[in-house]
Amino acid sequence: MTGLYPEFERILLDEASIQQRVAELAQEISADYRGQGSIILITILKGGFMFAADLARRLTIPHYMDFMALSSYGSKSISGAVRILLDMRLDIYNKHVLVVEDIVDTGKTLEYLTVNLNARRPASLKTCVLTRKPGDNRHVTVDYLGFEIPDVWVVGYGLDYAERHRTWPFIAELKPEAYS
Ligand code: PRP
Repeated sequence: MTGLYPEFERILLDEASIQQRVAELAQEISADYRGQGSIILITILKGGFMFAADLARRLTIPHYMDFMALSSYGSKSISGAVRILLDMRLDIYNKHVLVVEDIVDTGKTLEYLTVNLNARRPASLKTCVLTRKPGDNRHVTVDYLGFEIPDVWVVGYGLDYAERHRTWPFIAELKPEAYS
């Protein structure tokens, strides 16, 4: 497979490993929320779409799906400015909310979201993130984490490089020369 895509350094997380971990997370989440009624999964587009679809199909508790799209101005690490491109449609007041994200890098997106969503006064707010890079992002709380990954550019399973590679069932590391 990587031979077909010379810009891939290696497969970081193969399909079986991702699916295994998603199943574990779904089991944990289902156990934690059992008996608390429905929860609202808020998927952050675009990157979170594949993870959310697989996770939701494995949940054994009632849940609703909604979506948000966020964008940052310039470099998130410098400006920290995040804005909402697409807001959710459901009212989360007094509901249990679980944010589903593909990756935490600087943590700016999740930080912004936590403040924004808490202002809508949900009954509870938790976060489920498939991958987390190392670095200065520990100020944001990740309640359910799939994998710690190295500080490299990753694509696949929702993650892109210039909108490419989002729909691979695995996560690959890009060679530095592919994005520098
Ligand atoms: C990515 C990813 C997260 C965010 C994480 O989104 O999906 O939402 O960056 O980065 P941070 O922790 O540094 O804030 P991106 O802005 O690339 O949009 P996309 O999901 O549409 O690709």
